Amino acid sequence: MNAIISATAHYAPKKVLTNHDLEKIMDTTDEWIKSRTGIHQRHIIGENEATSDICTHIGRDLLEKANLKPDDIDIIIVSTVTPDMLAPSTAAIVQNNLGANRAWGFDLSAACSGFLYGLETGAKFVESGQYKRVMVIGVDAMSTILDYEDRNTSVLFGDGGGGVILESTESDFGILDSILRMDGSGGKYLQMPAGGSRMPATIETVENKMHYLKQDGRTVFKFAVKGMADVSAKMLEKHQLTGDDIALFIPHQANKRIIDAAANRCNISKDKVLINIQKYGNTTAGTIAIGLNEAVEQGRLKEGDYLLLAAFGAGWTWGSMLIKWGNPS
Ligand code: ACO
Repeated sequence: MNAIISATAHYAPKKVLTNHDLEKIMDTTDEWIKSRTGIHQRHIIGENEATSDICTHIGRDLLEKANLKPDDIDIIIVSTVTPDMLAPSTAAIVQNNLGANRAWGFDLSAACSGFLYGLETGAKFVESGQYKRVMVIGVDAMSTILDYEDRNTSVLFGDGGGGVILESTESDFGILDSILRMDGSGGKYLQMPAGGSRMPATIETVENKMHYLKQDGRTVFKFAVKGMADVSAKMLEKHQLTGDDIALFIPHQANKRIIDAAANRCNISKDKVLINIQKYGNTTAGTIAIGLNEAVEQGRLKEGDYLLLAAFGAGWTWGSMLIKWGNPS
């Protein structure tokens, strides 16, 4: 039994923050951001919006596209590092918003690799034969943990997400393989120090801006290029494929230069690489899921195509996934 993607959806909040908007609030330029990252703009949530609201848009869209009722969903997995709150889970809020009364679920924390970890987890439930339909959402509202006085980090991120319905199939289409990795020794290079049990919120933690994301950008860059390229190349090698066999490569969208380096290493030509970082920035667990839905909407995937996904993020966490695209039957 394989797990197959039967529907895709994405949602980006209406509010757009351009590089020119950022020029007005910090010492940066549109030219610097575009040339160093490839980002032109990002979407951010409005005052009364939160991560679960993005998920609810995605969830409703998924149900409609898959022609399912809320009660058809068995499990909801929300991959995010920006949940509405620490408890209850965002998945529980989404379950209630959708009226998915038979579903159980949970949040999954793997930063920028969250959607890949979520797909792998969801696929295993479906492949077990015990569950028929799993909704997997990758989403983040990064604007809620950014210090807009820190130009090194804040210009890179945006809010948004996407999701899929996973169903079982006896055909040879669907998720073929994944290689997932984790190396916690990299945690110190990209983290939000306060707000958990190690450093609960106090007046001091707030005053010292410890509830914002902090990173050593150059180190992250170096590890991201190597991690994403290595694991993608390994996946191709394992299945005796070359870059030419891949119809579409959807890498995590952190920096256009990281994407280009990973694609070059795997000899995947530019026209087969999905890049939308210019519109959304880095939406953390959202990037690959957004890209996947855009690819479907643009007709970039046809039955039998090999689709390669790759991610790298805080943790460190990273991985790649090989999918043979097709309709469930
Ligand atoms: N505007 C203008 N200047 C800036 C800005 C900005 N927004 N940010 C940094 N600079 C300056 C720096 O202060 C530095 O100035 P200095 O030389 O006077 O000290 C100069 O630009 C060059 O800085 P570098 O760090 O060398 O710039 P680099 O080309 O490495 O780009 C960047 C920095 C964009 C952060 C890059 O290292 C990167 O993308 N790293 C990966 C970070 C990342 O993706 N994190 C997301 C989470 S992890 C993931 O998703 C994979």
